[in-house]
Amino acid sequence: MTSTRLTIGRRSLLKAAGATAATAAVGFTPTRFAIGQQARIKIGLMLPYSGTFALLGQNITDALKLAINEKGGKLGGREVTFVQVDDESAPPKADQNANRLVVGEKVDVLIGTVHSGVAMAMAKVAREEETLMICPNAGADAITRAACAPNIFRTSFSNWQPSYPMGKVMYDKGHRNVIVMAWKYAAGEESIGGFKEGFTAAGGKIAKEIWVPFPDAEFQANLTDIANTKPDAVFVFFAGGGAAKFVKDYHAAGLRNSIPLYGSGFLTDGVLKAQGEAAQGLLTTLHYADGLDNAVDKAFRPAFEKATNRPADVYAVQGYDTGLLLAQALDAVKGDMKAKKQIIASMEGAEIDSPRGKWKMSKAHNPIQDFYLREAKGEENRYVSIAHKALSDPGTGCKLA
Ligand code: BEZ
Repeated sequence: MTSTRLTIGRRSLLKAAGATAATAAVGFTPTRFAIGQQARIKIGLMLPYSGTFALLGQNITDALKLAINEKGGKLGGREVTFVQVDDESAPPKADQNANRLVVGEKVDVLIGTVHSGVAMAMAKVAREEETLMICPNAGADAITRAACAPNIFRTSFSNWQPSYPMGKVMYDKGHRNVIVMAWKYAAGEESIGGFKEGFTAAGGKIAKEIWVPFPDAEFQANLTDIANTKPDAVFVFFAGGGAAKFVKDYHAAGLRNSIPLYGSGFLTDGVLKAQGEAAQGLLTTLHYADGLDNAVDKAFRPAFEKATNRPADVYAVQGYDTGLLLAQALDAVKGDMKAKKQIIASMEGAEIDSPRGKWKMSKAHNPIQDFYLREAKGEENRYVSIAHKALSDPGTGCKLA
């Protein structure tokens, strides 16, 4: 995709952000085509372009388009049309938005989203309508556990995955009594669940659980509670705008030196510029880090920055990998979207050479990947070590072969 197309995309994003569930077709140059289907592959993007996760949705979108552009702007030899919907990270609107894309627009592929609750509603529609869906962020465990389906894939993580390795990391650092805190919705609950599993298995104890309604970012009363409870450390799940605010508030409350703060990497990914001094030295675990030594990352980072004027982060990597997965599967069937069985088989066997390092698809359609311990330094989450090699979500309850 040329930078002009990205500009068109951004304008469309603004349009989508301004109107509830507004759709905006962002096309490429028309072309001849014939395998008895529409000429273009129609991709429905249902992502947040407003609210606390707006930048996450934009990075996923722009990196996905970058990956497709690097393949000549085509998938399986066919031009691509995007139809974009701002899902506003609003679960009550999710069913209608997903139906608008799947039933109304008849997209070939549904891609989204960031918010676990919204993604669950999308997955239900995709399952019922048998539309191919790729989830490029939302970690709702059920999507690749009990609610898994042959036509639903994830290129990101399950909520359990990034937090689980931090349990052992914190125990090994000598912490025994830890407060956990998160937004009270699937991502927060499951992220805390993963941490608790790892931490208590190592021998640690949970001193207190603090829950905040999503997407609230007023933390003062909770910070007073933490100061009074005096745990050894705090582990949190926040992301996007809420994460930026939490880290600054924690620092401003004077807690950084007395009660160490940890999180899954969403706490600091994509928001370090906004967090500034308050984030320096924070340790987090995630499936991406700055300073990974692989050729794909070394090419991806400058390409993403050139296309967007923003640094790459985990959300961009997930969007990029979604493009790689789609390109690989559609190339295998020469763009024939009717060859569903072969598309699914190709995605199931995928080994993605990603900026995060190589990863494979699990039987439940979730990445088996390395999780890194990172330290915030300047505006980067610098690689420290591998916290857990090739971690697979348990996939509990998923009946796929
Ligand atoms: C989620 O809702 O699944 C989520 C949102 C932001 C970052 C990570 C997970």
